[in-house]
Amino acid sequence: MQVITKAKELNQIIKKYKQEGKTIGLVPTMGALHKGHKSLIDAARRDCDIVVTSVFVNPTQFGEKEDFDKYPRVFDNDKEVCKSAGCDIIFHPAPSEMYPEYDDNRPLKDNLHVKSLSYIVKVPEKYTNRLCGKSRPGHFDGVCTIVSKLFHIVKPDKAYFGQKDIQQLIIIKNMCKNLNMDIDIQGCPIVREDSGLALSSRNSYLSEAQKQVASSIFKVLSNIELMFNEGKTDKEEVFSESLKLLADGIEIEYLEVCDVNTLDYCEKIIHNSFVAIAAKVGNVRLIDNVVLNR
Ligand code: PAF
Repeated sequence: MQVITKAKELNQIIKKYKQEGKTIGLVPTMGALHKGHKSLIDAARRDCDIVVTSVFVNPTQFGEKEDFDKYPRVFDNDKEVCKSAGCDIIFHPAPSEMYPEYDDNRPLKDNLHVKSLSYIVKVPEKYTNRLCGKSRPGHFDGVCTIVSKLFHIVKPDKAYFGQKDIQQLIIIKNMCKNLNMDIDIQGCPIVREDSGLALSSRNSYLSEAQKQVASSIFKVLSNIELMFNEGKTDKEEVFSESLKLLADGIEIEYLEVCDVNTLDYCEKIIHNSFVAIAAKVGNVRLIDNVVLNR
């Protein structure tokens, strides 16, 4: 497994593989890799000749008050996870490699101004004025900017994203359609702890007791799915019944039902919709969802 830090070098390596007719799979990550990320690398390994995992904490998708400086950076562990999953190349650039205006010598938080100095992909408001976009202005512009940059550098045939970040997944799929990017976007199932808590790099901020509390989010979503499968579609009824399973100490930011392709809000819980939740346990913001198909 190679670790590459320079975009040009990776470009050359990929060019050679492409000339040999090899297919390329990309798994974009911000590191702090867990079993959820490993499942993405596993999927890429099954589908593609060459697997590239990027490990990069992307400044342009963080707000001023968010955790860019605290986000876990554990590259040695990430290397182990990638190696054990059979990844071929890790792309681990310095921030200044991805954003020329970034100063690697300045404290992390002092560099968030790169957002206003960089070329940024603008996601249409109809995708960002809801769910996580409401409380994280500019977040999806930052995500699409870095994902586009990675697509230009790696030129993957397929790219793998977790369904846990379902709004991100839908936005990226639509970006590819809209910007004529010929890349097959694969959404991979959410990986959970035994308790049902969806795996997330930010779970490392939670105490064991908080994790227990947070696992009730999955109980709520499972009950919503159960009621939907029993034929109940009225969201007021289904949500109020299911929320009885939410543990004390969780503050809900949103609980919404949206179309799985367009992100449009749905009046009722319907086939091909998803129910998404964002909630805070202490200071830790968690998201989860369930896709409903009947
Ligand atoms: O899902 C993530 O970890 C990030 O948003 C991504 C797609 C790697 C872009 O930085």
